[in-house]
Amino acid sequence: MIDAERRAALELVADEVRSCRRCRLHETRTQAVPGEGHPSTEVVFVGEGPGLNEDRQGRPFVGRAGDLLVELLASIGWRRDDVFITNIVKCRPPDNRDPAPDEIGACGPYLRRQLEILDPALIVALGRHSLGRFMPGTTISRAHGTLRPADPACGAADALVLAMYHPAAALRAPALEEACRADTRQIPRALEEARARRAAGGGPAPTAAPGATVGVSGPPAASEATSAAGPESLPPAGEPPADQLTLF
Ligand code: URA
Ligand code: SF4
Repeated sequence: MIDAERRAALELVADEVRSCRRCRLHETRTQAVPGEGHPSTEVVFVGEGPGLNEDRQGRPFVGRAGDLLVELLASIGWRRDDVFITNIVKCRPPDNRDPAPDEIGACGPYLRRQLEILDPALIVALGRHSLGRFMPGTTISRAHGTLRPADPACGAADALVLAMYHPAAALRAPALEEACRADTRQIPRALEEARARRAAGGGPAPTAAPGATVGVSGPPAASEATSAAGPESLPPAGEPPADQLTLF
């Protein structure tokens, strides 16, 4: 699909989301939050669900967790417009409670269609609810920082999934912040693995046995250097260093 076709297909899904009444969350929402980003991106971030600010603005990750997500992306030289950002449920659960299983189930087809359209190489699952959809049967404390092939039933036909602590968890528990930053440093290498896997025609990633967790043993040299040097040393916007993995 070319850019314009993807954009139109994503907008169709977004329109349906905005008028959706498939679950009780429509009763309490201000605005639904379909998700947004580059229609031809290789990377999709999937969070849990809209919070207060997202519900007011109709856009994902625009509150404090969003600010941290943008900062984390900047630490690897990426901008939020380079990726696609969405959630497991598209309407805010009242008082930011956890989304219920039936709500996650009702909303699932929208995420599946978005992933079909975007056909990403890499899905970054933010937090435990997203993890539950993409890596069922594990816990975030165990799985964060690891990479696995996505089940094509999720909509993404040939993707790897990287599990990561949710930025909101990092804001609530300072002990998790460093883990969240370390997870972020795995992203460029995870994308390289995902690209290599697709170039090889799908199937298990080159470094993995079938069905095994794909090893992400350490951050790539480039992102290690970036993170060690801190945000002050980031290049001017739009000019990533030659050794940084670029999306576009
Ligand atoms: N947390 C999420 O999981 N999603 C958002 O959009 C914002 C905060
Ligand atoms: Fe529809 Fe999803 Fe919103 Fe529920 S959360 S009303 S399924 S868009």
